[in-house]
Amino acid sequence: MALSLATGAARARPYDHDSTTLREPCAGDGPAIHELIAASPPLDRNSLYCNLLQARDFAATSILAEAADKAGTPLGWISGYVPPTEPQTLFVWQVAVAAAARGQGLGLRMLNALVARPALASLRRLRTTITADNAASWALFEHFARDRGAHLTREPLFLKDRHFAGRHETEHLVTIGPLHGGAR
Ligand SMILES: CC(C)(COP(=O)(O)OP(=O)(O)OC[C@H]1O[C@@H](n2cnc3c(N)ncnc32)[C@H](O)[C@@H]1OP(=O)(O)O)[C@@H](O)C(=O)NCCC(=O)NCCS
Repeated sequence: MALSLATGAARARPYDHDSTTLREPCAGDGPAIHELIAASPPLDRNSLYCNLLQARDFAATSILAEAADKAGTPLGWISGYVPPTEPQTLFVWQVAVAAAARGQGLGLRMLNALVARPALASLRRLRTTITADNAASWALFEHFARDRGAHLTREPLFLKDRHFAGRHETEHLVTIGPLHGGAR
């Protein structure tokens, strides 16, 4: 069956702090998340199946922001997971805020709410990757680190030529810690 996905940008709502709720996603959110990602370049679009798995299997480490009346496209989304090889790390895969809601603190609010979940209290650090030219993303994670007095380090991880065969800019690994005080 063909899925009809309207363009997210057209249906995005302005951000209102008080009437925007944050919650864990569920599989039913998959198509709406897929739409939001598609309307948020330069994010990789991945597949709808990928978004369904994120929303179902990684709900505890992902977060969705939506208007209280639940009408329209979600306002924001963070997918994350705990890497099997790094059980004390929250790896943030993608962050997307609907165009109409950007620059008003929603990205920061979602990050803070995610790491404040009791189930994630034992995590020591946050990691993500960012391309050098994504100013909004750098500003978001730098602000997040600054607010909690955490260190932020960066190093090239996936290289343009070696890992992306020249088809994608180098992704820099960003590490922020400690997340909740204590040893890094
Ligand atoms: C990156 C993104 C998630 C930020 O979300 P947001 O809700 O707009 O961010 P916030 O309002 O919480 O702002 C966080 C910081 O980013 C800064 N910022 C926001 N948009 C910016 C822009 N276009 N250029 C530079 N800085 C920007 C804010 O000024 C703030 O920094 P400050 O407090 O030091 O001034 C959003 O711009 C987006 O969805 N972009 C497209 C997808 C993307 O690139 N995702 C990130 C890669 S995973």
